[in-house]
Amino acid sequence: MNFDVTIDRRNTDCLKYDFAVERRRPADVLPLWVADMDFPVPEAVSEALAARARHGIFGYTDVKRDYFEAVADWFKAHHGWTPEEDWLVKTPGVVFALAMAIKACTVEGDAVLIQPPVYYPFFEVVRDNNRHLVENELVLRDGRYEIDFDKLEAQFRDEQVKLMILCSPHNPVGRVWTREELEKVAALCVKYGVVLAADEIHCDFTRPGHPFTSAATLAGDIRNQVIICTAPSKTFNLAGLQVSNIFIPDKKLRDAFRHQIDAAGYSQLNAMGLLACKVAYREGADWLTEVKAYIEGNLTYLREYLKQNLPQIKLIEPEGTYLVWLDCGAIGLTGSALNRFITEKARLWLDGGNMFGGDAGQFQRINLACSRATLGQALEQLRQAVENA
Ligand SMILES: Cc1ncc(COP(=O)(O)O)c(C=O)c1O
Repeated sequence: MNFDVTIDRRNTDCLKYDFAVERRRPADVLPLWVADMDFPVPEAVSEALAARARHGIFGYTDVKRDYFEAVADWFKAHHGWTPEEDWLVKTPGVVFALAMAIKACTVEGDAVLIQPPVYYPFFEVVRDNNRHLVENELVLRDGRYEIDFDKLEAQFRDEQVKLMILCSPHNPVGRVWTREELEKVAALCVKYGVVLAADEIHCDFTRPGHPFTSAATLAGDIRNQVIICTAPSKTFNLAGLQVSNIFIPDKKLRDAFRHQIDAAGYSQLNAMGLLACKVAYREGADWLTEVKAYIEGNLTYLREYLKQNLPQIKLIEPEGTYLVWLDCGAIGLTGSALNRFITEKARLWLDGGNMFGGDAGQFQRINLACSRATLGQALEQLRQAVENA
């Protein structure tokens, strides 16, 4: 694959490039916001989809055992755990799965805990379901975000939290939680009877030295109260095909989760998405290795560029994900003023830190899953805006 080629995504109804005006941005902004990649999927996937499209009939579709085997083999080979077939519940997305988890494990008014700054739909899915949002803010210490465990325990106890949504690896701060950290979270969940919904959608994007630990591999009773959310969508750039694989080892919890999906009136998934998922997990490993190496190169480029040309902007060194959290505090703008500067002066579309909650108004999130030329262009625009400010 040659990821240096910048493929024109405009006029494909692509959320990232085609909806600036609808989302109140100037038409000419360069977008490095939403978490998808500017790279084409593994060739085996596009070939399988093309062959399926040529067949021309797109009736209701379900999967056989080979689908489960492709998914299970991936987690076994890459993450050291083997799901059982009956643990699997398929959903059209991870956020949808989180909504189902909220409905299955809590009633209106119950407390659900998240850890800002965090992927903004976590706030919406809790609030839109009329649950009480509890925020366990991550703490930035020496350039690295950490969990405040004392506060977490106090919140579990005092706010009677029923469900915790864990972002692992964490978007946007880029932490890949260590086994020790995850064991502490799990122990507290067990102690206070909190169901743990682990959003592991970014699990395949970890950097050298930061091995991913799935909540599925934690020892002890957490197995009876964990919902493991996985998907091929980030890993293989398939978000528009809407397939997620949710693993729930405990039967009672799984039945409650399934019941909510039934109640929402949802059954079979998208035929193309299911095919893409199976083929990607079977044949996409080499592609993923190459993509990760390319993104690592983009990170090196970004780090060097900032050091040499934009020392006012500091990156929080990511351990995982292809998203980088930029501390723009030294520019002297925060919140909507910083966002306006990024859009109107730098002509960029990034995700502003204030969307992620917590005290993150001085941050911006940038997506590195683009060609180096696109990244270089974005950084030039940013440098010129800062110089002219
Ligand atoms: C942590 C996290 N969870 C979930 C999603 C979205 O998942 P889905 O499109 O399957 O709802 C994203 C996308 O950026 C994400 O970063």
